Amino acid sequence: MEAMKRTATCGQLSSADVGKTVTLNGWVHRYRDFGTIKFIDLRDRYGLTQVVVDADAPEELKALAAELKFEYTIAVEGVVRRRPEDMVNPKMPTGEVEIKAERMVILSSSATLPFMIDESSEAREELRFKYRFLDLRSFSMQRKIRLRNGVAYAAREHLIGQGFYEIETPTLIRSTPEGARDFLVPSRLHRGKFYALPQSPQIYKQLLMVSGFDRYFQIARCFRDEDARGDRQIEHTQIDMEMSFVGKEDIFTVIEGMMGNIFRKTMDTELPLPFPRLSYDEAMNRYGSDKPDLRFALELQDFSELAGRGEFQVFRQVISEGGVVKALVAPGCGDYSRKQISELEETARVYGAKGLAWMKVTGEGLEGGISKFYESVQREIVETLEADPGDLIVAVGAEWKKTCLSLGAVRSQLGRQLGLADAKAFRFCWIIDFPLFEWNEEEKKWDPSHHLFTMPQERCIPELEKDPGAVKGDLYDLVCSGTELGSGSIRVHDPQLQSRIFAIVGMGQEEARRRFGFLLDAFEYGPPPHGGIALGLDRLVMLMAGEQSIREVIAFPKNTAGQSLMDDCPARVDAPQLAELHIRVTGEDG
Ligand code: AMO
Repeated sequence: MEAMKRTATCGQLSSADVGKTVTLNGWVHRYRDFGTIKFIDLRDRYGLTQVVVDADAPEELKALAAELKFEYTIAVEGVVRRRPEDMVNPKMPTGEVEIKAERMVILSSSATLPFMIDESSEAREELRFKYRFLDLRSFSMQRKIRLRNGVAYAAREHLIGQGFYEIETPTLIRSTPEGARDFLVPSRLHRGKFYALPQSPQIYKQLLMVSGFDRYFQIARCFRDEDARGDRQIEHTQIDMEMSFVGKEDIFTVIEGMMGNIFRKTMDTELPLPFPRLSYDEAMNRYGSDKPDLRFALELQDFSELAGRGEFQVFRQVISEGGVVKALVAPGCGDYSRKQISELEETARVYGAKGLAWMKVTGEGLEGGISKFYESVQREIVETLEADPGDLIVAVGAEWKKTCLSLGAVRSQLGRQLGLADAKAFRFCWIIDFPLFEWNEEEKKWDPSHHLFTMPQERCIPELEKDPGAVKGDLYDLVCSGTELGSGSIRVHDPQLQSRIFAIVGMGQEEARRRFGFLLDAFEYGPPPHGGIALGLDRLVMLMAGEQSIREVIAFPKNTAGQSLMDDCPARVDAPQLAELHIRVTGEDG
């Protein structure tokens, strides 16, 4: 190898190098044999270079070239020359030159490929996963992994520049309360005891604040045993951080600066800063979502007052029971068929609406659907909702949250159907003033909306127990174009307040001590006020790469069934290994 070690990469040569003798190492991306003359597109991480084996090449070289197949790894020595004018390829950075091969070594051969490397994105996902090491050779995957590296680097660069320490926290821990199921690791030394893999470094980063580190971050791997889907994996990566002596605005400033640096360094884009802030109530009222897609307007509008003046009994009843009615004007959808409207209705139903009422806007007023109940207020409806002839008005009446969420889902569907969002735009916002607790209808109890350590807003602290549903938390989400990128909060650092929160979610002192006694102990020793946030790195890179699934931006992802098809995991282990761990598997599937 020493003699044929590369002196240039496959992405670097240009007309400035004409006349130089170079050695390239790489993969045979394309191979065209015209009998007397042979062309090889040689590929590496940096690009493609055309190599030519001319008619007058030494016989030995020609014979070797004739053996080449896709994805053979070769070393080629030759002279850089300008391509004939009609063969210049302006689309390739190296498109003005080619290498006249003089010497070649086949470094390794390749079996028949399961798919063509640069067409891998069209192959079945299963096949791509099984041969991920080949899929990753494609330019599209290489671009995404490069982007991911750039994002992580720019994040580090900014945070370290701001005085953050990167500190690793353990992977084998006691289970953390993030709300998902833990992955457990049996202990060999301690029979019947288990480690958990961290759902996030949450407790450890809070302990680091107690230890006085003041500004911590980590690009942390998190493990959650939950169903994988487009934007979820059982292991994901967070840009995790925590700060002491801060309010949420300090955290926003750091994250905005970091996002600015990430977009500047990797996409050459200046993000408009600061990001707008929307309260949870406002986001729900206007967009029907706590992760609104601000790339398009199409806002939900209040329809309760007008609905109260019409004869449609369903809406009148909703209002009398304390619910709300909201409407959405779908621009130019007045010609939607029954089928199209019922598809929208199906979406609304998923989020709890009993139905989706509709009316078509015409030059004269309203037509069809529930319009007959509003004869006397048609003009007002059209004016208040600022609807135009040819539009479709859809409306939902239910309890406030159900109304917002179901109409919000219809809004998203319309956004997609009508192509309202610019796929290349990034619209960030902070969602603030979330409720601290959520009612768990199944278990008839209060759950924390974020996690147990989130600070209630100061004004709510005296009366937490009176109406937990009305308590707002000092917690916030970072949202980009309809995707939740990150969540964080100012934390409780007062053990008494923490106990009150445990009590509201029905966790007794004993259970609290058992699960995170060590954190409560630490809080006995001068904990600083602190807060933080974690951003999903996979989701961020997915959005930046214009992908729909985080699997596309993870080098070795799991499929939706939580399996890695390449190394066939999870897998059975040998009986002695299990015995050592004091584990016996029962049942057929074990
Ligand atoms: P949270 O659970 O909201 O907060 O997670 C933070 C962010 O991580 C990403 N994320 C995921 N990405 C891919 N697959 C998953 N299964 C997955 N789960 C979460 C999301 C999410 O917004 N410790 C707290 C943060 C804090 O309070 O500082 C936490 O983990 O982008």
